[in-house]
Amino acid sequence: MLVNLNQVLVAARAEDRAIGAFNIYSLETIEAVYRAAIDLDTPVIFAFGEQYIDVANIKIIAAMVRELAGRTILPMVLHLDHCQSVEVIYQAVQAGFTSVMFDGSKLPFTENLARTGEVVRFAHAVGVSVEAELGSVPFGHTESVLPEEYLTKVDEAVRFVAETGVDALAVAIGTAHGEYKGRPKIYHDRLQQIAEQVAIPLVLHGGSGVPDEDILAAVRMGVAKINVNTQISLAAVKKLKELCAREKPGHLSDLLYEAEKVMVEEVKGFIRLFWG
Ligand code: 13P
Repeated sequence: MLVNLNQVLVAARAEDRAIGAFNIYSLETIEAVYRAAIDLDTPVIFAFGEQYIDVANIKIIAAMVRELAGRTILPMVLHLDHCQSVEVIYQAVQAGFTSVMFDGSKLPFTENLARTGEVVRFAHAVGVSVEAELGSVPFGHTESVLPEEYLTKVDEAVRFVAETGVDALAVAIGTAHGEYKGRPKIYHDRLQQIAEQVAIPLVLHGGSGVPDEDILAAVRMGVAKINVNTQISLAAVKKLKELCAREKPGHLSDLLYEAEKVMVEEVKGFIRLFWG
């Protein structure tokens, strides 16, 4: 059953749990996330990023997720990940997404606040939840220690949440999207300070490669949604490389199915960690 973020994250934060948001961009990725959630009997978030709009048609992605989610009473969210375009947000809502992320994190603070507020007013009018981001969770930044100026500022987070009415806030506490060179430094103190003053569910982006104990500590402090993409792709690509290295790699349909099975196990590993 499709629901929005509020219908799963508020309870998750209260119970010191987090729900995985896994990136989807094909039938195999969608089925992998669905099968993992069904096998473990947990809620899940399908996250389609604006960056995949040229790879996969947004309406077809939405139709596939809606078809699968309609087969279960488990709560599932169809969420638009990292979107900087209000136009694409409209498209997603029209296609049936139940949640959107407006990513204004590269904008000056007051502009991010004003534009996020506009998205919230529109989205809430049609029952769609909104996530926003403050601070910087960089892409393709492989250094494992991010400078402090990247982090979300506590006073800005408090004002932003109060004035926008946003449903979930992605915080910058040291994670980055993609692979790290070494162990990432997670700024738990900053997360604790934000969590003490911001009551809405917090979101951790860049979930791949973060040590389990850092994830668990973040969940205890108020992170209720954790985004994962890179690690699942790496596992599937590794499997495909192994299969293609054989003398007779086989039919593409079999290779894709094998990759999907690997992704199911990878997603399950994250769900077990996040959900407890
Ligand atoms: P990773 O690719 O580092 O797992 O991050 C995913 C993410 O945050 C998507 O929004």
